[in-house]
Order: sequence, then structure tokens, then C-alpha cells
Amino acid sequence: MGNSNGTVWLPEGASTVASEIDWLFYFVTWTSLAIMLLVVGGLIYLAYTYRRRSADDAPQPIKESKLLEISWVVIPTILVLLVFTWGFQGYLKLTVAPPNAYEIQATAFSWGWSFDYPNGASSNNLHVPVDRPVKVNMSSEDVLHSLFIPAFRVKQDVLPDRYSSVWFEATREGEYHLFCSEYCGTQHAEMIATVHVHSQTDFNEWLADAAMDEDIPLPELGERLFGQQGCQQCHSIDGTSGIGPTMQGLYMNDRLLQSGETVTADENYLRQMIIEPTAQVVEGYPAGVMPSYARLSEREINALVAYIKELE
Ligand code: CUA
Repeated sequence: MGNSNGTVWLPEGASTVASEIDWLFYFVTWTSLAIMLLVVGGLIYLAYTYRRRSADDAPQPIKESKLLEISWVVIPTILVLLVFTWGFQGYLKLTVAPPNAYEIQATAFSWGWSFDYPNGASSNNLHVPVDRPVKVNMSSEDVLHSLFIPAFRVKQDVLPDRYSSVWFEATREGEYHLFCSEYCGTQHAEMIATVHVHSQTDFNEWLADAAMDEDIPLPELGERLFGQQGCQQCHSIDGTSGIGPTMQGLYMNDRLLQSGETVTADENYLRQMIIEPTAQVVEGYPAGVMPSYARLSEREINALVAYIKELE
């Protein structure tokens, strides 16, 4: 999953906090290893050097050393304070989500996840935009669970009777594992989801698709898309003229084009205007202003056409 640039020690890192947390981990690991080698090495060396060689080999009295005593108090104290400060800063950063974070509601249950988005979309996997802070507000339907995304270096308990939250900012598009990391019963090990990190454009597209009820009638879907896709910013539905022509009464109306031709705004005209807006620009409006909506799905285009047909 994702790009596998993990190491023997750690999985790949794909969030803004990952490298900082990894550095702290490596610092603690290597410092501990160095101290352990120093202590164990010194122990072996001294045991060997000052071993008892003969029956009358009496041990020498030990001389005190101020320098040694001070250094073995001061150096570890500095190291401990360094790790504490470093760790506490990281803790604060992880605890307080940026105020502009995009919020997603997560519900944990035995044994799965449900993620709910501001526009009504819902998914069993977590979808997030890349390079944007995301705050996940979490609660549990039943017992204690825990949300763990190793690649983002975040883990937080999910409680049945109160909210908890995590935030992260993904730095690379891709797919990452999401685990439950609190033992929660028989299927605990199966309580896995996938984090999909999208570009902002792909995320918006996914979000719009996910919010679509499959059974919703086409004109209703079209109305929703008309708002979601920002059509209404340029095209009114009440006859007033905006940056673009109004949609009211457009269907089967005769359109005078900039080319001097006149065409009838039938279904195919509407369709072409959505996919290729610069093809047949109406007289009196600026050309090349409207972006193509060719990225919409077939059903979404059908829905928009169905909606516009109804605007009499
Ligand atoms: Cu949910 Cu373990």
C-alpha cells in the first residue's frame, strides 16, 4: 500500500508529523543503545581488567571522583529533559488541530468503521485530501476501539460515551492501512479500513459521487449537482442574466450563436455545453469563461440535462 519507503524499524511516513516523530524515535533508540553499550562494555572491561588474579590479590580502595559523579547525573538529566521537551512539543502538536482543519465524523462499531462527511457522504473507508489538515472526530457505538493509521503516526482511542479526535495532514497521495488497535472482541483483527489520500480535485469528485443516492431521480440529482458544481454562480434559474445565460426556459429555445448561426437548445446542445462549453457560445456572452465538466459521470451529465429541461 502506498509507496513502500518504510524502513526495517518503521513503516513509511506520509503525514506532516511523521518525520519529527521518527526522529524522536531514532534519537531515543540510538541514545539508549549507545548508553547500553557504554554500560555493558564498561562492566565487561572492568570485570576483566580487575579480575582476581591470585588468592592474596586484595582489591584497592576506590577513590571518589567529583567529575565522574557530576557527569553521570548531569548528562542523563539533559538527555531526559531533551526527550521530554521534544516529546511534549510533539504531543501538543498532535493534540491541537489547526483551526482550518477539514472535519470528518468517524463512528467505530463492532467491527467496522463509518466515516461521515459534511455533505452527507458516508463511507466505510477514510477518504481525505492531500496537503490539507484533516480532523477526525470519533465516537463508538459500543465498546472501546482505537483508530490507528501507522503511516500518519497517529493513534487515538475511540470511546462509547464521549468524543475523541485525531488530526493529520497527509503529504502523499496513495492508500494506507487503518487499524483498530484496541482489543474489542472476536473480529478485532478484521476491523481494518483503507485510507485513500486523494488530490483535492479527486477528493471533491469522490465526495460528490459518494453523496449521491443511487435511487435519487435524475432531475433531483441534477439540482444537487447544479449547486455542488458551482453552476449557479454564473447561471441563474429565474431568468436573470449573469456571467452566463440563465437556465430558465433554455430547453428547446432558439439560441443565436456568436458564429451567427441559430441552434435549438435540445438535449444534445445542453450536453455539449456541459462537456465542451466553448463550442457554441451564445451571442452577447464572453467566450472561454466556462470550464469543461467532462469529468462528470454519464449519469451526472444526464441528471444536469434532466434538471435544466425542467426549468421552464
Ligand atoms: Cu475495534 Cu479492536
